[in-house]
Amino acid sequence: MSRYLVTGGAGYVGSHTVLALLDRGDEVVVLDDLSKGHRGAVPRGARLVQGRCADPVVLEQAFALGPFDAVLHFAALSLVGDSMRDPMRYIGDNLAGVTSVAGAAVKAGVRKFVLSSTAALFGFPERVPIDEEQKLEPVSAYGESKLVCERALDWADRVHGMRFAALRYFNAAGADPAGRAGEDHDPETHLVPLAIGAAMGTRAPLTVFGTDYDTPDGTCIRDYVHVSDLADAHLRVLPLLGERSVRFNLGTGTGYSVKQVIESVGRIGGKPVPFSTGPRRAGDPAVLVASSAKLREATGWSPRYGALDDIVRTAWAWHSAHPRGYAKAA
Ligand code: UFG
Repeated sequence: MSRYLVTGGAGYVGSHTVLALLDRGDEVVVLDDLSKGHRGAVPRGARLVQGRCADPVVLEQAFALGPFDAVLHFAALSLVGDSMRDPMRYIGDNLAGVTSVAGAAVKAGVRKFVLSSTAALFGFPERVPIDEEQKLEPVSAYGESKLVCERALDWADRVHGMRFAALRYFNAAGADPAGRAGEDHDPETHLVPLAIGAAMGTRAPLTVFGTDYDTPDGTCIRDYVHVSDLADAHLRVLPLLGERSVRFNLGTGTGYSVKQVIESVGRIGGKPVPFSTGPRRAGDPAVLVASSAKLREATGWSPRYGALDDIVRTAWAWHSAHPRGYAKAA
């Protein structure tokens, strides 16, 4: 049995990773200020320290609950659109978060760290699928913020021997297959929950952002990866960290268009998604699909919920049971 500190463990990917750790018998301390995360997303078996991860007093409290085998750092601002309205806040807060937590980890003698990173590092990629060798040229302040976080960790590695894994998520989607956690952002900007809400009538009809892309049906193609498969990848990279730091792109390798997502939601939910078409959203590349060959080879990871319908099925089930998210469990 091991013990982990999970910052942002009340958030979407963080809470699913906490479940995966608890399921295999590990101990978990969650550090979350609940500004975006939800108390209800922290599983009963985990201990919650509520506070900001850039606050030294809070960090002291959290590390006092160690010793920890590793820190998994999810806490961050993560909305691309938002980041373009307030870039200094995004870059400043996300960098302050990672440097504070990694600094406290070093002080506490923890030398393993996992960072939630993003496909947004690649901006408009030169080719797809996107492997780790491609140029890092973010086109959003959010992407830039994660790039500087990765670079900061390089220094923790060089100077302190802190080994880290940067996992660059593509499009996280879906919900815990056992129904224990799901996706609840405010505001919600992601396609899958918006399409599901539109079909259920709990949200406005969907607007498809652009139908004139250079793709077979004219809508953007993304690599939707099940959130529990993301969680599994975190567990699988931990044993690598004894030796070296690693960076992995994390997606299924299969892309689906916005229209295919709409069709899948209609099929799984048995209700069509009401939608209209609108202009392109600024900063959206036509196609983002990951090559996860490096991760698969290093860890044996492969998605258990690789098909879009499987992802949507778990998301639909969670939203059916929690029409208002964590605010009101059914
Ligand atoms: N989309 C719509 N209508 C909507 C919302 C989204 O058509 O109302 C489209 C987008 O234009 C895009 C696709 O659905 O083509 C997926 O959009 P999301 O907002 O769900 O996800 P993104 O691909 O924009 O962003 C995701 C993560 C980011 C990460 C990025 C990496 O949410 O955190 O991938 O490229 F940075």
